[in-house]
Amino acid sequence: MADSRRVLLGISGGIAAYKVCSVISSLAKAGVAVKAVLTQQGQAFIPLLTVATLSRRPAYTDESFWQATQGRPLHIELGEWAELLVIAPLSANTLGKLAHGLADNLLTNTVLASTCPVLLAPAMNTDMWQQRAVQRNWHRVLEDARYHAINPGSGVLACDRIGTGRMAEPEDLLAHIYSLLHSGGRRDLAGKHLLISTGSTREFLDPVRFIGNPASGKMGVALAQAAIHRGATVTLVHGPLEDALKARLGGIQAIEVTTAEEMHRAMLTYLPQVDWVVMAAAVADIKPATQAATKLAKADLPESLPLAPVPDIVADLAQRRQPHQRLIGFAAQTGDIVPPALEKLRRKGLDAIVANPIDVAGSGFGCDRNQAILLTQAGEKIAIPPCTKLEMAHQIFEVLGVRF
Ligand code: C5P
Repeated sequence: MADSRRVLLGISGGIAAYKVCSVISSLAKAGVAVKAVLTQQGQAFIPLLTVATLSRRPAYTDESFWQATQGRPLHIELGEWAELLVIAPLSANTLGKLAHGLADNLLTNTVLASTCPVLLAPAMNTDMWQQRAVQRNWHRVLEDARYHAINPGSGVLACDRIGTGRMAEPEDLLAHIYSLLHSGGRRDLAGKHLLISTGSTREFLDPVRFIGNPASGKMGVALAQAAIHRGATVTLVHGPLEDALKARLGGIQAIEVTTAEEMHRAMLTYLPQVDWVVMAAAVADIKPATQAATKLAKADLPESLPLAPVPDIVADLAQRRQPHQRLIGFAAQTGDIVPPALEKLRRKGLDAIVANPIDVAGSGFGCDRNQAILLTQAGEKIAIPPCTKLEMAHQIFEVLGVRF
């Protein structure tokens, strides 16, 4: 991401502050300008020197705020500078101040002196998180469209408790930060419910052998995250995902399936409730004609494998959809990607299809990056040059958001 992106990081008091160091480091290495504001309690957990060194910029404290002697007030400068404000960790105390519009330190004054989106990553002990007052504040703050949440996860907490209150991991924080930088905090999909499929399906011959493909599910998870940030409700139907990817599904209703038939059933179940369907899954088009319930001995394996078709899920959804529902497919192709994708767009009855090459290094199955040509039913052909899958997801929604 270009140098011009500007993230202001607010660090309030919590042991999860240590995780923020790697976030600052990754952003700075990617060329994002990071400035940081530490509350007094934040400084108890992480030295100013660490933050300033990692960000390659000065970091600010209440001391810099109250003792400023020249120039414009620091909170105004920082508030105007920030393109995105991230508060991680967000303590119960700072949350309470945000919920009530209070401003008694540099961080809370800067929040009030800025208009950019604010990403909140709470971290606290389970009992603190579950206090009614804290939950009230959390819901109250999120009523304001300016605030975006990364809900705390569950796990072992630093207080030796197991429960909810763990701050999101750095990878997850970074994905949210990049996503909000792409969308600029716009909630242009607000009120829409998206049904997204992703990953591969597996068609078993016996309990150990299956027909499948290398799709990782990264594109669909990126689509789901981007849609959530743009204000949509998301239901994600996915094949097997790596744990790191599963950890990024916070706030998303996720349904895990294995076979194309299970995916078909899940998609049909949710179809009536949704506005858009994005079928990013790489469905196995065929399955073994018979499935053994127990493992076949090597000697019993057939020399050739009789195959049977699986349902064409998206084509079936197109038959059953209501007039206001929109269907977007994906076409993973080799060679000239446009003609076969156009043919699928028409044959399956889709509103748009994203044709992406799987024979170009650094894009397609399993990669973090992708490139594509977005084809619409109206005959448009929009090139999406190589970029991260998250950026591509935002570009797809930007194009389709104004057309559908
Ligand atoms: O596999 P194919 O290239 O035909 O996939 C194009 C689109 O159709 C994708 O959106 C894919 O998810 C969908 N599809 C499906 N059911 C299948 C095969 C593909 O919905 N059995």
